Amino acid sequence: MHPFLAFLLACTSEPGPVPTEALPPLPPRLAERAEDRGVERPLREAVIAFTAEVRGEVEPCGCPTTPYGGFARRERLLARYREPGDPPLFVLDAGEMLAKPLPGKAPAESRGRAEAVMALAEATGLDAWAPGPLDRLVMPPEWLAARRAVSATWGPPFAAARVVERGGIRVGVVGLSAAVDGAPPRDAVSAVRDAMSGEADTWVVLSNAGAAVNRAVADGVAGLGAVLATAGENLEDPWIGHGAPVIETPGRGRYVTVLHLSLASTPGSWAIEDGGVWKSVASARERADAAGAGANVLGEAFGRDLATLAQHTIGRNVAVVSVRPLAPDLDGDTPLNALVETFHAEQLATARAEVGRPSALAYGTSAACSSCHSDRIASWGFDDHARAWASLESRQAARNPECVGCHSTGFGKPGGFSDLEPRLAESYKAVQCEACHGPMRGHAQQDGSGSTPITEATCRACHDAANSPSFDYAAYLRRISCSRMAVQDLPD
Ligand code: HEC
Ligand code: HEC
Ligand code: HEC
Ligand code: HEC
Repeated sequence: MHPFLAFLLACTSEPGPVPTEALPPLPPRLAERAEDRGVERPLREAVIAFTAEVRGEVEPCGCPTTPYGGFARRERLLARYREPGDPPLFVLDAGEMLAKPLPGKAPAESRGRAEAVMALAEATGLDAWAPGPLDRLVMPPEWLAARRAVSATWGPPFAAARVVERGGIRVGVVGLSAAVDGAPPRDAVSAVRDAMSGEADTWVVLSNAGAAVNRAVADGVAGLGAVLATAGENLEDPWIGHGAPVIETPGRGRYVTVLHLSLASTPGSWAIEDGGVWKSVASARERADAAGAGANVLGEAFGRDLATLAQHTIGRNVAVVSVRPLAPDLDGDTPLNALVETFHAEQLATARAEVGRPSALAYGTSAACSSCHSDRIASWGFDDHARAWASLESRQAARNPECVGCHSTGFGKPGGFSDLEPRLAESYKAVQCEACHGPMRGHAQQDGSGSTPITEATCRACHDAANSPSFDYAAYLRRISCSRMAVQDLPD
């Protein structure tokens, strides 16, 4: 039985399994064509789901512009590509996955996050990934190598490549990691060539090594399908030189780049198709997937498109790229939610331990400032900082330790708070005086505690690239109440 036909019918039939005997014969047009060309070749499809630079983001971000992302939504999206009868799905990541690039995080906290992110990535079926320098900063190479990390540039203990076989398709994956600590840059092109010694139906390179290296590899290695890379150049479309395309994916786990592949009998570079019959087939599948298992929305047109596609792709490796946002429509139950809950519990335990650490300083909260600085309290009340907690409440996130740190004062800091029970969190909520000035409880009693010097780093601890993409120190500084008061204080 022609596997392509079986697939075609499985997709266009009524819900439920189709007995093989019931399948009508091959459409004559397709049979003739196949004979004409002298090739008897089924449509060999595969889907690759690809992410990069997740940077420790576990949940949808709270950012104003694109509140996308999170592993639970990722899992729900991938499940749509794993319905019975779907082509095999491969899950890959180009690295810089495990750590937030925030300075000054306690090592224990970073390790806890890295472990959680790894467990979540494995739960979504991660097949292979290329570790990046930040990953290696938080976790030892042996730990990474034991978790499907491949790196042709870093050498042992990392395997250079890995071939993943699923549904009769073998995808060869080569890792290309950026140089760490000025390590001499090896010849990436030959490293990739060496790594491609096994048998595979298509070879991809996962790279966080930067645009110049990506292009050199894409152009310099024969038999390579594509280079899948971190968003170094912020390419909207794949870069196409003389060989394999370079495909970038957006960071922070907010999107998943989905590659629909049709593979020829010999591995070679993918031709990127961005429309026509491919697009109709891919989008019909996406509609069907979104409609849920068993929904019969594909229809005859889909069958015809698929037949056209089968002819069109004979002897070629073809890919269609679609970038899928992890938006709220993907919210819902997944087994991953339990892993996220476990991570929250660990975050709270870490916060509790930090708060309990002996410290000369403690947070007084703004109630302790009002008697003397009532003018500042009054003007602060008009700042967005004063409504930071309300913003969390509007997202039902006021008890989420992943969000609370930047929307409150002294969370998980020595002398601060860690209990998110509403009554106990009450006095620490929103970005108060001491979120910027540092703990000042004894200052009212003139115990000598004064403000911690405020610098750009003070703001960037919260205004990081993920949550405050348009942060500009000078411009933002002018807009906070303390600066406005300083201006008012100036003599005319
Ligand atoms: C690293 C610090 C940080 C974390 C963690 C964080 N936020 Fe924020 N959030 C910010 C900053 C800074 C802003 C203001 C951004 C700006 O306007 O430049 C903000 C803004 C917001 C806003 C206001 C958006 C608007 O419409 O004005 C909401 C809502 C929000 N965050 C929700 C969340 C949620 C939910 C989480 C947890 C998933 C979260 N935040 C985690 C720092 C953070
Ligand atoms: C008993 C009165 C009193 C209370 C309560 C008080 N302060 Fe002050 N604070 C002062 C005085 C007096 C000064 C010195 C004069 C000045 O610079 O305005 C000062 C100065 C400051 C300064 C600037 C000088 C420095 O140390 O950097 C900051 C910032 C400040 N206070 C913050 C706070 C905060 C935050 C709180 C609440 C936790 C608070 N104060 C509570 C009386 C008080
Ligand atoms: C403890 C975390 C934290 C610190 C420290 C912090 N911010 Fe913020 N900032 C926030 C959050 C959260 C918001 C968003 C509040 C909201 O709208 O809910 C915000 C909002 C703002 C806004 C309004 C942005 C907008 O788009 O309307 C400005 C301006 C701002 N911050 C400036 C600063 C400056 C300047 C500093 C350093 C001197 C600073 N912030 C320090 C957390 C912080
Ligand atoms: C978003 C960060 C931020 C918050 C929140 C904040 N401040 Fe400030 N504050 C500053 C900055 C920046 C300055 C400018 C002087 C400096 O660099 O220390 C300043 C200056 C001051 C000064 C004058 C210091 C001097 O030496 O003249 C006082 C007093 C003060 N703040 C008190 C408060 C009080 C009280 C609150 C709470 C109602 C508060 N601040 C909230 C950032 C903040």
